[in-house]
Amino acid sequence: LNYNVFRERRYILELLFNGLRRLEYRGYDSSGISIDSDPFPCLTDPLSKSPISPSPPLVFRQEGKIEHLVRTVYQEADGMDLNMEERFQVHAGIAHTRWATHGVPSPRNSHPQSSGAGNAFLVVHNGIITNYAVLKETLIRHGFEFESETDTEVIPKLAKFVFDKLMEHKADDAEGDQNVSFSQVVMEVMRQLEGAYALIFKSPHYPNELIACKRGSPLLLGVKELSEDSNNGASFDDSEFLMKNEKPKELFFASDANALIEHTKKVLVIEDNEVVHLKDGSVSILKFDTDKAKSVGGLPRPASVQRALSVLEMEVEQIKKGSYEHFMQKEIHEQPESLTTTMRGRLIRGGSCNAKGVLLGGLKDHLKTIRRSRRVIFIGCGTSYNAALAARPFLEELSGVPVSMELASDLLDRQGPIYREDTAVFVSQSGETADTLLALEYALKNGALCVGITNTVGSAIARNTHCGVHINAGCEIGVASTKAYTSQIVVMAMLAIAVGDDAISSQSRREAVIDGLFDLPNKVREVLKLDDEMKDLAKLLMDEQSLLVFGRGYNYATALEGALKVKEVALMHSEGILAGEMKHGPLALVDETLPIVVIATHDNCFSKQQSVIQQLHARKGRLIVMCSKGEASLVCPSGSCRVIEVPQVEDCLQPVINIIPLQLLAYHLTVLRGYDVDQPRNLAKSVTTQ
Ligand code: G6P
Repeated sequence: LNYNVFRERRYILELLFNGLRRLEYRGYDSSGISIDSDPFPCLTDPLSKSPISPSPPLVFRQEGKIEHLVRTVYQEADGMDLNMEERFQVHAGIAHTRWATHGVPSPRNSHPQSSGAGNAFLVVHNGIITNYAVLKETLIRHGFEFESETDTEVIPKLAKFVFDKLMEHKADDAEGDQNVSFSQVVMEVMRQLEGAYALIFKSPHYPNELIACKRGSPLLLGVKELSEDSNNGASFDDSEFLMKNEKPKELFFASDANALIEHTKKVLVIEDNEVVHLKDGSVSILKFDTDKAKSVGGLPRPASVQRALSVLEMEVEQIKKGSYEHFMQKEIHEQPESLTTTMRGRLIRGGSCNAKGVLLGGLKDHLKTIRRSRRVIFIGCGTSYNAALAARPFLEELSGVPVSMELASDLLDRQGPIYREDTAVFVSQSGETADTLLALEYALKNGALCVGITNTVGSAIARNTHCGVHINAGCEIGVASTKAYTSQIVVMAMLAIAVGDDAISSQSRREAVIDGLFDLPNKVREVLKLDDEMKDLAKLLMDEQSLLVFGRGYNYATALEGALKVKEVALMHSEGILAGEMKHGPLALVDETLPIVVIATHDNCFSKQQSVIQQLHARKGRLIVMCSKGEASLVCPSGSCRVIEVPQVEDCLQPVINIIPLQLLAYHLTVLRGYDVDQPRNLAKSVTTQ
C-alpha cells in the first residue's frame, strides 16, 4: 500500500505478484489478488463527507502456480479494457498464495474470499478457523450464500453482517456518530472467530485502507520511506513516522520477511490480538483481548499501542537462486558457509588458559536449570525432529539427563505428561509450525522450562519460549530442509557441550568435539565433492519403486532423514529403518531387487553394522554402503556392493556429514524423475495449520 506518490496500476500489480513469488514456497496450489479499479476511490462527497460510491475492487483468482494467476490477470485486464496506465496516489491491494486445507485448489477456493456481490469485504487468510461451520450456519440463516468450501469465506461474510448491523444500529441512533470504523468491524469479527489466523481485510466502504490482525499465525508490517534512501537505516523516529501521514511511504503486510526484504528491512512484528490499521498514510495499532471479549460477549475498549520497528537481518541475495538451478541445490551446497555462520562467535578455543568451550548467549542463564532437569524432551516435526534425534545421544552422554523424543502432533494427541522439572526443547526451522507451537503452549502450561531452537528471528517459537538459540543458517526456501538440518544438529551439539560444561570427566571429549566443530565446514566441503557420484547413483536408482535406508546409533536419524528427503522431493517410497530392528520385520522385504542403503561409518556401532551387512548380503540384498574413507574393504569384503566413502569426523558430528550424500541423491533423483524440486507435490515449507 503506498501513499503520496502516483503509481501506475502495473507497478501495483507487479509489486503484489513479486510478493507472491517470494512466498510461493509457503503454498503453491492456487493464488489470488485484489486491486482497485478506480484510481480515486478516496473522493468524498463534500456534503456528506462519505466516499462517493467507489467501484467495487477487482478480484482475480486462479488455480496452480503464481505465473498462472499473472497470465490470467493480464489477459482479463486486457479483455476488460482496464487501462493499465491509470495512476493511483494511494492504493490498497491484497494478494495470497494458498496451500489448501479446506476445499480443493480451485479459483473458487482461492483467496481473497469475498462477502459476496460488490466485494464489500475481501479477506486473505493464513491459518484455520475452527468454528467456521457454526458461523456458516448462522450466516446462511441470515441469507448469505456461500460459494467456496473454505473455512475462510465465513470471515468476509461475517464482516459484512457485522458492518450492516452496526450501520443499522447507528441509523437508529439519530444523535450519535453515524460512522462505523473499519477497526470496529474487524474487532467484532475477531471476537467471533476461533482458531488460528493472520488476516488482511480490504473494503470499498473504507477505500485506501487496510486492516491486518492475527492470532497464532505470523504477520509482519514492512515500512518503506520513499523520500530518501533511508529505508535500510534507522534514520527516522519509528513511532512518529508510523503515526503521521507526512512523508511518502509504502507499507506492506506479509506473512514472511522474504516478501519484504527487497523493499525494506524495517518491520514491525505484529503480535497476537493486535489490529493494525493503515489509513491516510498512517499506522494505528489497537490491542484487545479476544478471550476476554468472548467471555463478556462484547467488545472491551481496545488499547492503542505504540511499537518500535525492528531491522531484518537478511540480504536480498539470500532469497535468490544465484547460479544454481534450484534452491534445494543451492542450500545443499552452501552448507560449509551456513555451518560457519551457525558457529560464528559461539566456539571458544585457545586463549591464555587454553580454554575450550561454547558460548550460547541465549541460554547462559538457564544452563543450571537444564542440568538439573529431571528430563529433557525434544519436540519437533519432520526434519527438525530428525535433527533432534541425531543430537540426542550426545546430549545424553554429556548431560547425564535422560532425553526423550516427541513428535509434536503425537505429544498433543496423547496429552503426554510434562512436568515443571522438565526442560522442553522446541526445534523448528520456521519457528511457526502449528503442531510445535501448540505443543509449546502445552509445555508452558505445564510449567516446563521451554527452550527454542529456530532459524527465524522473531518467529512465534523464538518469542514464546523462555530462552533459546537461533541456528543462523540463513533463509531456507527449498521445501525440503537441508542446511537447516545440519545447522540444527550443530546447535544441539553446542547445547550439549554447554550443558555438560561443569563435568571435568568429559572435558577431553568436549574439547575433541569443539575441534571437530571447527573443522566441520572443511569436511562438509569435502563430502560435497561426491555430487557427481550421487548423480550416477541417482541414474541407477531413478526407476525404482522403493528405497530402504538402514542406520543406528548416531545415524538412525540419518536413515530417517535420508529416507524423508527421497520421499518428499523424489516422490519415491523410502523408509528409514533402525538397523537394530532389521530382524523384526524389515528383513522380510530383502531380495535381490530392492535397493538398500546401509550407513556404516566408523563409530561404536560399527561392528554391529558389519554384521547387519553380512546378514543382508546373505539374503542377496542389493546394497549401497556408506562408510568412512578407506574402510570400503571392511564393509564390503566381497566387493559386491556399491560403496559411498565419506570423511570421518567425531562420531556425534558424523550425522552432519552422512546426510549430505543422501541430500544430493534425493536432489538428483528428483531432477531425473522430472519432479518439482523446490515445491514438491502437496507439501508446504511451513505448516502453520494443524
Ligand atoms: C514441513 C516441511 C518440512 C519441515 C517440517 C517442520 O513438513 O515440509 O521440511 O521439516 O514442516 O518444519 P519446521 O519449520 O518446524 O522445522
